[in-house]
Amino acid sequence: MTPIIEVQSDVSVLVQRAAELVIAHINQTLSQAERFTMVLAGGSTPKPLYEYLATQDLPWSQIHVFWGDERYVPITHPDSNAGMAARAWLDRVPMPPENIHAMPTGAADPARDAQTYEQELQAFFQLAPGAVPTFDLILLGIGDDGHTASLFPGTEALGVCDRNITVGNKDGQPRLTFTIPVLNQAQKIIFLVAGANKQTALRHIFADQADPNTWPARYVKPQGQLIWLLDQAAGAALTTIDS
Ligand code: 6PG
Repeated sequence: MTPIIEVQSDVSVLVQRAAELVIAHINQTLSQAERFTMVLAGGSTPKPLYEYLATQDLPWSQIHVFWGDERYVPITHPDSNAGMAARAWLDRVPMPPENIHAMPTGAADPARDAQTYEQELQAFFQLAPGAVPTFDLILLGIGDDGHTASLFPGTEALGVCDRNITVGNKDGQPRLTFTIPVLNQAQKIIFLVAGANKQTALRHIFADQADPNTWPARYVKPQGQLIWLLDQAAGAALTTIDS
């Protein structure tokens, strides 16, 4: 499917548009299925979206949240993606605890915690060994270096295709991350990108030619729908893409 790119006037409009798309997808999916599986992005951009979702009356018992990546810290740590989402959203709505599938980070062994999350996905989705789960929605961001989830430029994680979760590496710091095949199995991916500091990455991600190992978000080509929601500061990159 051809990616949809929308440039919104500012971050608050971007967040409102993202919420509109997320809620519409939840309602559409639950009109035909019993549960909705959603993967949350970390970082700072999605926080106001999570805060807005906390004000909505949604069928929380039918919504399951997962994370596409996690810093290797306890959930109480200020850097925790699961901690941010809990404080902004999940602690404020009656979502059953069993619907919240945070990545484990307590084994003092990132590879072991990655395997534990792999097993959680296998059990939840009733996957055959080696199968890739299909999430209804995956939210992603990009760093100014073009990473997405915790798939950083030039790292081993970019080449891992035989499992769903692997250990990412940011400047020597371990992270847990989905692998590219899981992202590309999604029914819908929404990228949330704000700020002029993302322009260089966007130019390379949208250019006809660029190395995905240098700009990893280029690997994201889901079987389902791909939507880029940019604010004007980031979206200015689109007017000067090298063809
Ligand atoms: C993380 C994220 C990461 C994030 C980008 C953008 O754990 O940091 O999952 O991929 O989406 O780094 O972060 P900002 O939204 O803070 O710019």
